[in-house]
Amino acid sequence: MEKITVAQARQETAIGRQVRLQGWVRTRRDSKAGFSFLELNDGSCLANIQVICDAELPNYQAEVKLLTAGCSVTVDGQVQASGGKGQATEIQAARLTLHGLADPQTYPLQKKRHSFEKLREWAHLRPRSNTFGAVARVRNCLCRLIHDFFQQEGFLYVHTPVITASDCEGAGEMFKVTTLDLNNPPRQGGQVDYTGDFFDRPSFLTVSGQLEAEIFACALGKVYTFGPTFRAENSNTSRHLAEFWMVEPEMAFYDLTDNMDLAEAFIKYLCANVVASCPEDMQFFHERIDDTVLDALQTVATRKFERLSYSEAVEILGKSKEDFEYPVAWGHDLQSEHERYLTEKKFQAPVILYDYPREIKPFYMYCNDDGKTVRAMDVLVPKIGEIIGGSQREDRLDVLQQRMAEQDLNPDDYWWYLDLRRYGTVPHSGFGLGLERTVQFVTGMANIRDVIPFPRTPGNVEF
Ligand code: 4AD
Ligand code: MG
Repeated sequence: MEKITVAQARQETAIGRQVRLQGWVRTRRDSKAGFSFLELNDGSCLANIQVICDAELPNYQAEVKLLTAGCSVTVDGQVQASGGKGQATEIQAARLTLHGLADPQTYPLQKKRHSFEKLREWAHLRPRSNTFGAVARVRNCLCRLIHDFFQQEGFLYVHTPVITASDCEGAGEMFKVTTLDLNNPPRQGGQVDYTGDFFDRPSFLTVSGQLEAEIFACALGKVYTFGPTFRAENSNTSRHLAEFWMVEPEMAFYDLTDNMDLAEAFIKYLCANVVASCPEDMQFFHERIDDTVLDALQTVATRKFERLSYSEAVEILGKSKEDFEYPVAWGHDLQSEHERYLTEKKFQAPVILYDYPREIKPFYMYCNDDGKTVRAMDVLVPKIGEIIGGSQREDRLDVLQQRMAEQDLNPDDYWWYLDLRRYGTVPHSGFGLGLERTVQFVTGMANIRDVIPFPRTPGNVEF
């Protein structure tokens, strides 16, 4: 008896095979003729397979007739052609083993539709729903495509640390990591004395693997890191998480234009390939979640990204007749309403903005000769706004030191980062793509909490 998946059993080529299927019952329907139909799902695909259970099964009355949504079973039987619509095959059960019942009085996932808010309270059960199963498969597919892209382009995958002593983005939004007794920490001159802490100094969860990725790029050329990152910002928006995944390529001998070219090729690759890799799930998102997603993916995959400077963008925004909640002024960060206006209304295409004011950007970005801007870039896509942030890095030791001084950073904390500029410095660039915002863009899911298995946001750490 060969174990196969529901996805395999749904193929016409499986007809005639004796197989074993294992999964969870979605529904049971009893026929007047004295047998039952089960809809079985095992997560291998969106669709279920129909299982026919005859009354002759020895446990028909005692077990089959008790099956309800959520029960787990093993079914042995033959795959046969099905006359039912939407299915090429079904399985005639020769034996059914019940593993676990799911009391219909208390099992939350009954047939009725639940709101996504409600499903967040059941994060341990929501992967069993159609939408969250589809999100999990598409997320998996995007991760595979991310690795495929960089591996094909000759990048080396490096693992950067989760625990760090430096604040890459300089925004002070870091979670502290400590083993000190918070009720009674050692003190020295009124301050907490971290010399007795696990790492003998204040340490944090990383906000970005960039600084360490730069170390490897400045030795091995083209690298990328891909892992969880953490931000202790108190943002309760549909696009912010306190824990999210970021893929960060870093390339020696790349200037900002090379960086933009790579970012554009990368996003195009993901959008062009995700539909072919997950056709059934993507059709589901198109029909049930957002009927613009397939068009949006097509647009991004084929249209040239609009490229303009931050200053040009501010001018366009200033001249627009839009009623923005936040005013636009040169020197201020753009809000997502501004980003969305540019990509959704003005250009109706992905947009790359570059050369941002130096005051609003981190210390590591390359300073332009105008004394006012740095070689930063943000990639904006419809509905999401910023999906990528990146820059050419400051590779001149003296300028970098001056920038660190401007931002009150202690050079002793970054001695190794400065060494990269002391010894064989090279022009280099990189960027970070937020995985969850990418999953949102691809699936049309409105809230970022619904595209990561276990969202971490202010006040939410259950599961
Ligand atoms: O623009 P950010 O902050 O850039 C960096 O961290 C750089 N060190 C990256 C680099 O150059 N290697 O973040 C990059 C991307 C954003 O464009 C966004 O997609 C995502 O990470 N992101 C978030 N996603 C979810 N929740 C948050 N709180 C996010 N903050 C950033
Ligand atoms: Mg950013």
